[in-house]
Amino acid sequence: MKKGMNAVRTYVITGGTDGIGKGLGLHFLTRGDRVITAGSTPAKGEALRAEAERLGAADRFRFLRADLSTLNGMRSVVAEVEATTERLDGLVFATQRFRPRREETPDGLEYTFALSYLSRFVIGHGLAGRLDQGHAPVVFNLAGPGGLPGRIHWDDPQLHHGYTGKNAAMQASRCNDLLGVDFPQRHPGTRIRYVLYNPLFVKTSLADPLPQPQRAVTKTMAWLLAQRVDKAIPPMVDHIDHPPAAQVTAFRRRTPIPLTGKDFDPDAADRLHELTLKLLAER
Ligand SMILES: NC(=O)c1ccc[n+]([C@@H]2O[C@H](COP(=O)([O-])OP(=O)(O)OC[C@H]3O[C@@H](n4cnc5c(N)ncnc54)[C@H](OP(=O)(O)O)[C@@H]3O)[C@@H](O)[C@H]2O)c1
Repeated sequence: MKKGMNAVRTYVITGGTDGIGKGLGLHFLTRGDRVITAGSTPAKGEALRAEAERLGAADRFRFLRADLSTLNGMRSVVAEVEATTERLDGLVFATQRFRPRREETPDGLEYTFALSYLSRFVIGHGLAGRLDQGHAPVVFNLAGPGGLPGRIHWDDPQLHHGYTGKNAAMQASRCNDLLGVDFPQRHPGTRIRYVLYNPLFVKTSLADPLPQPQRAVTKTMAWLLAQRVDKAIPPMVDHIDHPPAAQVTAFRRRTPIPLTGKDFDPDAADRLHELTLKLLAER
């Protein structure tokens, strides 16, 4: 059971219907907490509801169907959570879907930018008020901090030119690093702790959207080298249950990553914030 807490905690998990997000959700439900899960596939939501029922947790589980690559989907999650929840203890970001070819969302945004970065921006800032009512509130952003290659294409953030799925994924990771360092600046006096977390290689559904033969290769590599979800989760739960004292932190599994260098540059974070507000204002 929970250490040092007596109230039921409430968590929102985007991308909580599969892989790491699902593993965290089931962990929280098993120990008696409340979980609101957002994902785009109804069948996965129903399967998770059935698991919650088996755990006797059906009344503590809610599935929100939302396509989080769309602004409507992002805003619907914020609105639903605000309408039904006074207090949030944790917000976990775990959406991903690799796109080998450039795709545009109905809002005219590049898919990975929208799903992997913008949904975290909109939902994180949108639910900050509810989080500030929480016990020891934390935003736990699963991305790729810690020296992976990739950069933000400031002159072409929607990647109209020279798109590769890897560039898009890496750009989203760099955007999330800056989103994390910037977060407390936008919420002065907040109690929220923002944790950027790189789980390294975990056996999930991450390879499913890849074209062949990369899918088969990645699945084989995962089978050989990746950590199982149940093994990957304990350090994440520790960070969520006992958020670090610093307002923003980054980890590669349990190893802290210093918030120095260009990936965490406050001026770049400010620039990205302004660029993002402009994109949102135009839509
Ligand atoms: N696994 C790894 O090795 C690894 C390594 C580094 C970082 N990470 C990070 O860890 C997080 C979790 O990854 P994972 O490997 O567990 O992923 P996963 O198994 O592929 O699950 C991805 C989740 O994202 C949701 N999702 C995808 N597209 C969506 C959309 N348009 N709208 C709403 N939800 C959507 C999926 O739900 P639906 O299908 O229901 O939409 C699913 O719940 C990601 O942020 C990833 O970048 C993972």
